[in-house]
Amino acid sequence: MKPAKPMAKAGRYAPNLLVTHLFAPHSSLTSFFLTFLPTYRRYLDTYIYVIFTNLLPKPHRQIKLSAMATSQKEPFELYVREVETLVQRLINDPNSHSKRSSIKAILDGQPAARLRDAIPLAARRDGGTFFTGSRLARRLVNQGLGEISSDTLIADIGCGAGDLLLASARKLPLAADLPETLRLWSSRLMGFDIRPEFVRAAKARLTLLAIDRGHRFWKKNVTAASDCFNMVRQHDFLSCPDAIADASHIVINPPYTQMMAPANCAWANSGVSAAAVFTDACVSHASPGTQVAAILPDVLRSGSNYEKWRNHIESQSQDLRITTFGQFDKWTDIHVFLLTLSKSKTPNSHKTHWWKSIKHPKDGKVCDYFDVHVGAVVPHRHAHKGPSTAYLRAKPLPRWTMVKRITERRRFDGTLFQPPFVAVRRTSRPGDKRAVATIILGKRQVAVENHLIVLLSKNNKLSECKNLLGVLKSRKTDQWLNNRIRCRHLTVRSLNELPWWSFNK
Ligand SMILES: C[S@@+](CC[C@H](N)C(=O)[O-])C[C@H]1O[C@@H](n2cnc3c(N)ncnc32)[C@H](O)[C@@H]1O
Repeated sequence: MKPAKPMAKAGRYAPNLLVTHLFAPHSSLTSFFLTFLPTYRRYLDTYIYVIFTNLLPKPHRQIKLSAMATSQKEPFELYVREVETLVQRLINDPNSHSKRSSIKAILDGQPAARLRDAIPLAARRDGGTFFTGSRLARRLVNQGLGEISSDTLIADIGCGAGDLLLASARKLPLAADLPETLRLWSSRLMGFDIRPEFVRAAKARLTLLAIDRGHRFWKKNVTAASDCFNMVRQHDFLSCPDAIADASHIVINPPYTQMMAPANCAWANSGVSAAAVFTDACVSHASPGTQVAAILPDVLRSGSNYEKWRNHIESQSQDLRITTFGQFDKWTDIHVFLLTLSKSKTPNSHKTHWWKSIKHPKDGKVCDYFDVHVGAVVPHRHAHKGPSTAYLRAKPLPRWTMVKRITERRRFDGTLFQPPFVAVRRTSRPGDKRAVATIILGKRQVAVENHLIVLLSKNNKLSECKNLLGVLKSRKTDQWLNNRIRCRHLTVRSLNELPWWSFNK
């Protein structure tokens, strides 16, 4: 598989021609910014970063991002150096005084906190760098590793500062002394990351864990932390995924950024989540029998766009299990699920349930009563041309009521919808009311923004729209949708499948 290419959306370049020109890779303005940003980075806060990077057209943003990443990573690198120094001090002088609480912090959550301080959220999103908290890491490892035997080799692809490797190492046995334990663990743990400072952090923390778990005092000399864990190294996994062929277990929390599907991709040919590409590469290149455990964004479990990906993963797996988890951590507003599977020897035709569904609800599903569509107006894409019509937008729309008159108008020559219908906001958060609805009345057809889902009753009756409001408002709907789709965007398919709860009858 070729290295992933950044996603290119042709439509976005056109309005930015001037900026494209000004920031062409070799222009003097580009060199000015490349020199200026690192030098004065300490005066640039998150907002300036966001403004600069958003001004740039996408391909050039990649250049800026790598320049920015170089300048912004220094505080994290300083932190890694601090950790390495502490570990080395403990190695040189086992009796040296080191507070238990500082060791605990380094092993549990401090690198993630330092990364948050050092790198603005927008840049962490672009790089897909979010370190897993210990609770989630433990849960993944407990669920995915199973029994550890003498030939276990655990690989973490995109290991970051090593949080999944640490959770795995907690399951490995200790040997007689520190050098022996480090040798044993070095032969059992493999990790790749493209960022060298993350790899150094992972190695130093693994050594610290060995010290903390039972080797505070030892007799023999030990080599520096950097000399252990030779299989934890800087490596671009997508450019050479064969590197995991020997692993007996793979644990991953891959980047969730958008990228172009690789050229030979069996399940997509446009922009996709890097998490889907990484998981596919892991499963495809793992040897039969390898256990894979992954923390993945919910869109892969519940999104219609990833149905082919799900089938593709299923076809290569056995014992595939899905567990919804909830929000990744309190700083990262994305819902994740855990996927565990075993790479099968032969193609598998067994179907997995990626969400709990009620096969044949007593009174049917919403699709038995309504036709479900996404609003046709994409505000930033569609020109104001065609006849002037009433225009329905999500933001000003009152909730759980009936709207008789729409005051906003726009020209639109695409699909219009004839009232009465029910408009549901597409965006919602698990935990909130999920399918917030409004009944739209009137005689004339309406242009509807694509942030709304339109439900047209099959019998064209207002009473049916009122019944639907009852269904959508019920707590059962929230519970059902929270299980079915935890990402923020409701899909047409999820509303089609929603049971028509019998209390309406
Ligand atoms: C979401 S972070 C997870 C880090 C770590 N596994 C954890 O759970 O804390 C994803 C990591 O993948 C790394 N990464 C991104 N692209 C990569 C690639 N092509 N090869 C290897 N690592 C990559 C990033 O640098 C980042 O550290």
